[in-house]
Amino acid sequence: MITHFARVELNTVSIQGVKQFYGNQLQFPVSFEAVDEIHVQPADHCTLVFKEDNQPLSPAHVAFEVPFTAFDDIVDLLQKAGVTLLQWSDGRSVDEFETGRNVYFRDGDGNLLEVVAHTYVQEGVLPPSGYLKILYLREIGFPVDDVFAFRELLVELFDFKLDNVEDNFTFAIGGTAHVVVVSKKRKWLPIAMTALKSAMNVTFGAPSVQVLNKISNNLDDKHIPYTLEKDRLHFQLGEYNLHIQVTAFPENIPALLQLPNASK
Ligand SMILES: [Fe+2]
Repeated sequence: MITHFARVELNTVSIQGVKQFYGNQLQFPVSFEAVDEIHVQPADHCTLVFKEDNQPLSPAHVAFEVPFTAFDDIVDLLQKAGVTLLQWSDGRSVDEFETGRNVYFRDGDGNLLEVVAHTYVQEGVLPPSGYLKILYLREIGFPVDDVFAFRELLVELFDFKLDNVEDNFTFAIGGTAHVVVVSKKRKWLPIAMTALKSAMNVTFGAPSVQVLNKISNNLDDKHIPYTLEKDRLHFQLGEYNLHIQVTAFPENIPALLQLPNASK
């Protein structure tokens, strides 16, 4: 149903700061630039948009998937680019878990970024993009008051699958997109960063107008108002502004990547 994260809009206090960090250090291509807005492309099918909005910032959490075989090289590249890796309480930066490895760092606005690689992700399906060999945008954090209620809505509206289900944390998964449903009372690892609601606009990709129609029916059932344009659906879910856009991202990519929750 949902294939991927297509676009994330975040506020920034400095367009030039975004350009220096994402454009120069991470070497994401800059695809649009104006006085108060800049777009960067971690991968072809995904855009990060930063807007200057004269508002106080709440940092977001975003994770990028990279090939497991390139992970060590990518950590070296981050360090060569002068990116400060965050540390766990024992001083290490790289975490190894059952299915992969990751590192965390922050941008100039304090957004908590993660580069993560999983052993099960099939390589050679999506082309690694740019200097950091990004495959796709895997995670966006959604701090909420009620983890149970928010994840159930994602399941009922979008047929998301759940993983790592805990009272204060859950992955809600559609395609390659992992919505990190997290309690505002649970701090982000590894630096115990307060999980604040971020003023973000998130666009999910969907393969067809039929999917938009199906989701709009589900929204009707829940009495959630929405606007449906030709190939784009917009609505508010809890405190978050969500969009679903028909894109060319192939529907079978999550299955080809061998993601555990991909529908076969
Ligand atoms: Fe994460």
